[in-house]
Amino acid sequence: MVVFWCTLLGFMFHLAEILADQPRNDVCQDTGREEFGWALIGHDYKSSTAESFGRCFFDCSLDEKCQSTTFLWNTKECKLKKETRTSRPIDMEQNPAATYMENPYRAKKGSKASVPGSSCKDILTSGEAQGNGGYWIDPTDSGDPFKVFCDMNSYGGGWLLISRFIMETSDSINDISSSTDSYRTILPAYASNSQYLLRNGFNQLKQDMGFTQIRLYCFKKTRGRVFHIMTKEDDTKGANVVKFFTSSNNMPKACGSFSRLPDDNSSLAVHCDKWGYPNTDRWGHGNMLTDSRLFSRPMTLASVPRFYRLKGPKYQCDDNDELNPSIGDTWQVFVR
Ligand SMILES: *[C@@H]1O[C@H](CO)[C@@H](O)[C@H](O)[C@H]1NC(C)=O
Repeated sequence: MVVFWCTLLGFMFHLAEILADQPRNDVCQDTGREEFGWALIGHDYKSSTAESFGRCFFDCSLDEKCQSTTFLWNTKECKLKKETRTSRPIDMEQNPAATYMENPYRAKKGSKASVPGSSCKDILTSGEAQGNGGYWIDPTDSGDPFKVFCDMNSYGGGWLLISRFIMETSDSINDISSSTDSYRTILPAYASNSQYLLRNGFNQLKQDMGFTQIRLYCFKKTRGRVFHIMTKEDDTKGANVVKFFTSSNNMPKACGSFSRLPDDNSSLAVHCDKWGYPNTDRWGHGNMLTDSRLFSRPMTLASVPRFYRLKGPKYQCDDNDELNPSIGDTWQVFVR
C-alpha cells in the first residue's frame, strides 16, 4: 500500500513539476527527470502531436511499453520510444528545441512480451536485466517476440542459451532431444533441458540477431573435469569459428581462437594443437561436417581420445564415452 501511495504521490508531484516547470522535491523515489536540449533519435513506436511536453510525458507514462519520450517544442511532435539513452547512448543528440525524458513507470526491457529486447546482450546493455532467467526478445522487430534463457551474470553476461542437456533422471539419455532449424522453436524450449538448434537455424539467428562469440560448457561427474571455453571476440580466429558453425566448411584453426574460462580443468581445452581430424589444430571433424556439428564433436582430440558431444544418446565431456553420465551432469552452449 505504501508503495502504491508513494508511486501515486511521486507521479502527481512529477506532473505538477512538469506542468509548472518548477524544480521538484523527491517524494519517495527518483521518478526520472526531463532533459532539456536533448533528443533520442529513432526508435519511435508512436508519434503524434501534443499541446505540451507535460501532455506528451503523460501519454508515455500511461503505456508500460513507452521507455522514453522526446518532445519537439517547435512542431509539438510527441515521440514515444522503445529505447532510452542508456540502451542507445549513440542515438542521443543535442537539440535546443527538444526535451527528452524517461518513463519511470515503464516495464523493464525484456521482462514482458510488450517490451522485447533484440538480444540478451541488448537487454543487458539497457541496464534493466534482473539476473539469469527468461527474457523476451524479438531480433527482427517482427512484432512476434518469444522468450529465451539469458545468462546475465557470467563472463560479462548477455549470453543467449542455444542448447542444453541436463541429466535429470537416470533415463534422460534415452529421451529424444528436439532439434530443428527454427530458432523460434528451440530457444523458447530452454526448460526442456534437451534441445538443440541445427546449423541453418543457427546461421539464421546469426543473420537476424547477430553474435560474435560461442561459449561451450560441460561437466560429467564420472570423468570429473569441467570443460568450459568461449571463442574470442575478434574478426579473425574467433570469427572463423563462428563461420564454421554457421556458413562455412573450412575447419578453422583451434589454437588462439578461444579462451579457457576459470573453472575449466579439462584436458581437451589445453590440447588445442591436437584437436581435429584428419588435420590437427582444427575445430570439427572432417568426417562429421553435418548440420549438428556444433553438438556432435565440435572438437575432437583423436589421439587420446577425448570428445565433446551434446547430442543423444551419447554425451561426451572430455572423455571417450566409456563413462556413463550421472544425474546433474550438464552440457550447455551460449552465444552473444
Ligand atoms: C575440476 O573441477 C570440478 C568442479 O570444480 C571438480 O569437481 C573436479 O574435482 C575438478 N577436477 C580435477 C581433476 O581437478
